Amino acid sequence: MENLVNGTLVKTDLQSYFKNKKILITGHTGFKGTWLLKILSMLGSEIKGIALEPNENQLFFNQIQGTQLCEHSIIDICDYESLENEILNFEPDIIFHLAAQALVRPSYSLLRETYMTNVIGTLNVLESIKKLSKKCNAVLITTDKVYENFEKDYLYIETDSLGGHDPYSSSKAACEILISSFRKSFIPIEKYDQHNKCIASARAGNVIGGGDLSQDRIVPDIVKSVQKGIPVTLRNPNAIRPFQHVLESLRGYLLLAIKMEIDPVLCSTSYNFGPSKMDCISVLELVQKCIKEYGIGNYNIEPQNSYLHEAGILMLDNSKSKNDLGWIPQWDIDKTIKETITWYRTNEEEKNMITEAQIKYYFNL
Ligand SMILES: NC(=O)c1ccc[n+]([C@@H]2O[C@H](COP(=O)([O-])OP(=O)(O)OC[C@H]3O[C@@H](n4cnc5c(N)ncnc54)[C@H](O)[C@@H]3O)[C@@H](O)[C@H]2O)c1
Repeated sequence: MENLVNGTLVKTDLQSYFKNKKILITGHTGFKGTWLLKILSMLGSEIKGIALEPNENQLFFNQIQGTQLCEHSIIDICDYESLENEILNFEPDIIFHLAAQALVRPSYSLLRETYMTNVIGTLNVLESIKKLSKKCNAVLITTDKVYENFEKDYLYIETDSLGGHDPYSSSKAACEILISSFRKSFIPIEKYDQHNKCIASARAGNVIGGGDLSQDRIVPDIVKSVQKGIPVTLRNPNAIRPFQHVLESLRGYLLLAIKMEIDPVLCSTSYNFGPSKMDCISVLELVQKCIKEYGIGNYNIEPQNSYLHEAGILMLDNSKSKNDLGWIPQWDIDKTIKETITWYRTNEEEKNMITEAQIKYYFNL
């Protein structure tokens, strides 16, 4: 694991750690979960996935033939008994918990579903981990939006106040409080040798990349508009976000899982995974860069009114991940956009090939 020092995971590090490991991914049919499933299957892990039935926005999972890469279980994480059964029977070495109602604007109308899935679902995962009578490391995915946002030119650090104006953000901030309380109450660090459980939370930036077809996300909106030849509509053109490629956040989760094995006491905490400050750009700049990457001039971008609140400026301090894990962003915003648009363009012709090619390229596999 020598490369952990500078965070550049190489084939031998990844394979020596993840090959034949029993890995549970919740939310394996979603945008990030599908990429993670593909990476871990390429590394030779034994994978179980738990999620809802893939919907029309999750064609990416079908495209990589996700059901053949894992033991695929359709379970609602709010159904405690079924979830616990699955986890106790599988006996995972590592859990990546990604399942969530993951969208901000729909969280206003899907209020109960958002809190039930995000908070009670996470509680059910934690309870199941507690009952496992074996060693287990778990990376629980929250978000960059867990901080009380003061709308300032500021990079949030892990010890800043939690908050969340909209239902999605507040549900994820609630998860952070739950995780911290659960750790202190049931699996205290000082008793690690007795319980052998390490639980960390990961707060990543706004991820972009191929394979995302979700409603209400900026890159899928751009791709769909360009494909149909209609204007791109923007709700918050001046909002500044920590955009990063999906592979950047996933490398963070993988590095964290490896470091948890080496130093579980250090890692029983939370980690930010965000891009450098200079790569945090506005939504409008992101759209303009994507359109330029498509090679289209003078494309119509139209404002869209929305009365629902979304944060105006959000950036993360990534020093702790750099120091503890050696995680450093590898792709700047231009490279991120280039790889993202390349995926959508290439994918129209060569289904599935581009995903594997980008993983090999990014991780030097
Ligand atoms: N996409 C981003 O920009 C971003 C940024 C920061 C954090 N996150 C977090 O990363 C995680 C993954 O995000 P994503 O973009 O892949 O989301 P997604 O919406 O693409 O996928 C969500 C996944 O969760 C599953 N799921 C939803 N409700 C469930 C339930 N009740 N029971 C079981 N499974 C359920 C879905 O089936 C799907 O597999 C989420 O926790 C999200 O909050 C995402």
